[in-house]
Amino acid sequence: MAVEQTLSIIKPDAVSRNLIGEIVSRFEKAGLTIAAQRMVQLSRAQAEGFYAEHKGRPFFDGLVEFMVSGPVVVQVLSGENAILANRELMGATNPANAAPGTIRKDFAEAVDRNCVHGSDSPASAAREIAYFFASSDVIVR
Ligand code: TYD
Ligand code: MG
Repeated sequence: MAVEQTLSIIKPDAVSRNLIGEIVSRFEKAGLTIAAQRMVQLSRAQAEGFYAEHKGRPFFDGLVEFMVSGPVVVQVLSGENAILANRELMGATNPANAAPGTIRKDFAEAVDRNCVHGSDSPASAAREIAYFFASSDVIVR
């Protein structure tokens, strides 16, 4: 097993419903540590660039609209197998398909308001962390 870093976003639906603490608590209880964290109001250009891999898909415009609808918390999670560990804590993209006990099953209202983002591979984690944080902002304990 390897210590990894992954980019997490607590999305506008979760922030506006005061779920930041509940979600961070799940990460910490699972053994992930917060290596960087800040709140940000994304611009449209920032949201489009972050989700560039989905440009052209039918949900893209709605996704960007949602991501700029209010502040988000961007964070770097660190730990053993952090990328997969976070994806497992999040659950399936559509909360209707997410396993019991996952963040999306327990908190999310719909696929297009699904509370959290997590990097899906080492390559995307590297890109997504660098999208929001300088390496000096990331404190791995
Ligand atoms: P995706 O990267 O496939 O999911 P995940 O967040 O689990 O990695 O899609 C990015 C986001 O786009 C997803 O979290 C919510 C939104 N989305 C929709 O609104 N409708 C959809 O049908 C899909 C596939 C995604
Ligand atoms: Mg994804």
